[in-house]
Amino acid sequence: MTELLTDWRARVPRRLLTVAWTGPKATEATETTVARVAAMRKLGLAVGGSAGLVGLAALVTQAARSDELFLGYLLNTVVNKIPFPTARLALYRAAGLRIGPDSNIMMNVRVMTPQGIEIGDHCIIGEFCQLDGRAVRLGEGPGLTIGDNVNIGAYTAFIAGSHEPDSPDFAGPLARTVVQDRAWITMNCTVLSGVTVSEGAVVSAASLVNKDVPPYTMVGGVPAKYLKDRSRDLRYTLSNRARWI
Ligand SMILES: CC(C)(COP(=O)(O)OP(=O)(O)OC[C@H]1O[C@@H](n2cnc3c(N)ncnc32)[C@H](O)[C@@H]1OP(=O)(O)O)[C@@H](O)C(=O)NCCC(=O)NCCS
Repeated sequence: MTELLTDWRARVPRRLLTVAWTGPKATEATETTVARVAAMRKLGLAVGGSAGLVGLAALVTQAARSDELFLGYLLNTVVNKIPFPTARLALYRAAGLRIGPDSNIMMNVRVMTPQGIEIGDHCIIGEFCQLDGRAVRLGEGPGLTIGDNVNIGAYTAFIAGSHEPDSPDFAGPLARTVVQDRAWITMNCTVLSGVTVSEGAVVSAASLVNKDVPPYTMVGGVPAKYLKDRSRDLRYTLSNRARWI
């Protein structure tokens, strides 16, 4: 049978075959159909996506009122994977996190107790960071406060809680953390609870911050120690709101 078909095709002039199968009218009709299907698909995706976001926002809002564990699950498995910052930030805000209009929490950030986190304007929180607002439970303002124009490099973790190693019941105190304007905490740092990273300070890569960092100084190492002063003549405004990151 295959041989017969091959024979038949070989006998028909190639030009005739081309006209019959891809003639001008057929091509136009096909293009129109393809364009229509593509437009329908886009519309479907937009409607479906919007409905999904509305549903997710309702779930997040409800969880923020009543179920901290489920809220953390939603934020750290679904919301932080959404590749559109406007939608992602709207959902963080629905969860109770306060953040300025031109700041961005990039994808894959882990957020704990969003109601205890306050971030100013023009801040960038890099991918795979951890933001921990649990110290809000102390009842005297936010657990984690980040000022304006703060840059936090990827993989940096804020840890609000700890345990007392010698406590018979493994007591777990919390403490508030503050990062002031134009501080730059670079990649892969760990910031322990109860510290203030002061205005204009720099924490160099892979450092462990366990004490306050004085203004306009650069610190580094494990634990972080003073390395040098930073210029006080800083005028930049940070911006990182590409639509897809
Ligand atoms: C902060 C940083 C930019 C400083 O660079 P710099 O101003 O050129 O500083 P220098 O390299 O001159 O370092 C000054 C001193 O600090 C030391 N130092 C720098 N980074 C250090 C670190 N992470 N830990 C320990 N010491 C460090 C240097 O060894 C040097 O010491 P020395 O004078 O005894 O040789 C750089 O250290 C850094 O951490 N880069 C990572 C940037 C990053 O994470 N980017 C991602 C985008 S947010």
